Order: sequence, then C-alpha cells, then structure tokens
Amino acid sequence: MKTDLNSLKNQVKEELKKEGGSLGVYRKYLGPKGEITQILRSLKDLPEKERKEKGKLANEIKNEIEKAVESGKYKTRDAKYKTQDAHFDITVPGKKPSLGHLHPLTLARREVEEIFESMGFSVIGGPEMEKEWYNFDALNIPKDHPARDQWDTFYLKNGLLLRTHTSPVQVRYMEKNNPPLRIIVPGPVFRHEATDISHEFELMQVEGLMVDKTVSVANFKAVIDEFFRRFFKKDVKTRLRQDFFPFTEPSFDVSISCVVCGGKGCPTCKKSGWVELAGAGMVHPNVFKNSGLIPKDWQGWAFGFGLERLVMMKYKINDVRLFRSGDLRFLNQF
Ligand code: DAH
Repeated sequence: MKTDLNSLKNQVKEELKKEGGSLGVYRKYLGPKGEITQILRSLKDLPEKERKEKGKLANEIKNEIEKAVESGKYKTRDAKYKTQDAHFDITVPGKKPSLGHLHPLTLARREVEEIFESMGFSVIGGPEMEKEWYNFDALNIPKDHPARDQWDTFYLKNGLLLRTHTSPVQVRYMEKNNPPLRIIVPGPVFRHEATDISHEFELMQVEGLMVDKTVSVANFKAVIDEFFRRFFKKDVKTRLRQDFFPFTEPSFDVSISCVVCGGKGCPTCKKSGWVELAGAGMVHPNVFKNSGLIPKDWQGWAFGFGLERLVMMKYKINDVRLFRSGDLRFLNQF
C-alpha cells in the first residue's frame, strides 16, 4: 500500500508538472469520487499504524494538488488543441454553388404574359376555388346540360368547386370593368381525370378576352398569329376550324402548323401537319348578359389554352406528368 501511494504521489507530481493545477486534475483526485478522496475516506477502517502512514502520504498528495490549484493556474489552454494554420491554396477553383431556378411552366407563363402585355393586354387573376355559377351557369352552361360533361369537376364539401377552366374570370372581370377590355388570365385549373402522358388533373391555363364596340374574328386571328409566332420563335401558321363551346358563338378550335416537322407530318402532329392548341370564339350574348353588359352594344372574342401543351411542343416533351413530378433530371434542363 505504501508503494502504491508513493507511486501515486509521483504520478500526481508528473501530471501537475505537465498540466499545472488544472480543474481536471483536481476532479480526478479530489473530486467526490476522486482517488485521494476515496483513500482518505477508507482510512478509518485501517489499523492505527497503517492509517498514520497512509494518511500522511495521502494528505501530502492532497496538499500538493490543492496548492497547485490554489496558485491560480487553472489551465485554460493547451497547444495540442490548436489546429495548425490551414494551408489555403488560392489557385484552387471554387465550388460552384448550385442555385435553383424557376419552373419551366413559370418561365413559359412569364413569356406569354410579356408577349400579350406588349400587345396591350392586362394580366388578371381569379379564384381557384370557384362558385358553380361562374364556372358553369354564367358561361351559358346550365345545370344538367350535357356540355358540363366536358369538364370533369372536383366538387368541394363547402359547396364550391375547383375551377375547371379560367373562363369564369371573363365574367368576374366584365362584372367589374367596362369595355373596352383586353385581358389574359393565366392560372391553374383542375380536372377530375385519370392521368396519363397527355392528361393531368392540374393544368396551367391561359384565358384571353378582348371586348370592344367592333371586334372581329379577324382581330382574333391577327393577335393569336402574332402570339404563336413570338412564343415559338418560328413562322408558324394558325388555322381556325369550327367547334362548339357554350360560351362562344361561333366557336373554333385553333391549330398551328406543327413546330416539330414544320407542317410536313410527323408523330407529334399525327401526320396531319397541324396541332390543336386552343379553343376560342366570339363571346356569347348570354355571357355578356350574365356579366351585366348589354349584349347588343358589345362584341368580343375569347380563347383558352393549356400552357403545358405549348411548352411540350416547344421543347418536345412527351409526358405532361413530368411538369409536376418534381424530377430534377427533368427540371434541371430548363
Ligand atoms: N374554357 C375552355 C376549356 O377549358 C377553353 C376555351 C374555349 C376558352 C373557348 C375560351 C373559349 O375562352 O372562347 O376547355
């Protein structure tokens, strides 16, 4: 035991030399569970002779530690913790931070807005959660009319629905604003549909509306020609064919010469040379009426198209679901 304490004393001396009276040394030996504390505590059970010898040595060690600690030399620094000055090579090329960017549909939407704004159109918004009245009735699509089947609708528990097209904004806008009017309405619309490469339940639609005293199909053709040429940056041709929409009379579908093959015929245009991109027509008198305007005083044209189709044509994308897939391999290309 004696030798034990002697070597312990040497050990402590060594440590004090190295570290000074550090808090760590103090705790190790004199803390509640410290080695010396325990020895001192066990003295009372020893025979007298041994107790005296051991007690003396243990107290010497204790005093030595306390002296060192009290001399105020708590060590707060140690060179071994200090990292070397890092070598900094200023010639190493920096790491390029990867920045996000706008979604391809947002980019396209801004492009569409710019083109129409340059032709004097204002960009207008409307609610995505819509009243049945604006989405259907006011657009001359009465309840139980078979035309409603054209739009598979998400009806909401609160009595409203998710708008199936941007056309309701025509009525909302004409209720509050007097002609002459020139607006486009870009925004999401929703269809209760099974999805596949060409169907999605959410689409970005762009509605257009122009109302004035004398507005004709020729005006529409001029505007839409100009738009498509500028959007596709190609000399595309536009074709109107008779169609049916309850809110326009007459109504047409709008096709453009296929931008993939230039009208020669390819799989994209199903060999026809034309791709159908929009619906359009002259605003129906009932739509004017339902907006509070006097039908005989005004003429107007309107159109609506899905932005996805246009972007798919422009960049040769073959699956509409890619837009909302969140797939970075797709998104990073824009
Ligand atoms: N709202 C129609 C749809 O979603 C598209 C449309 C067709 C809009 C003709 C119009 C229009 O403004 O005149 O299928």
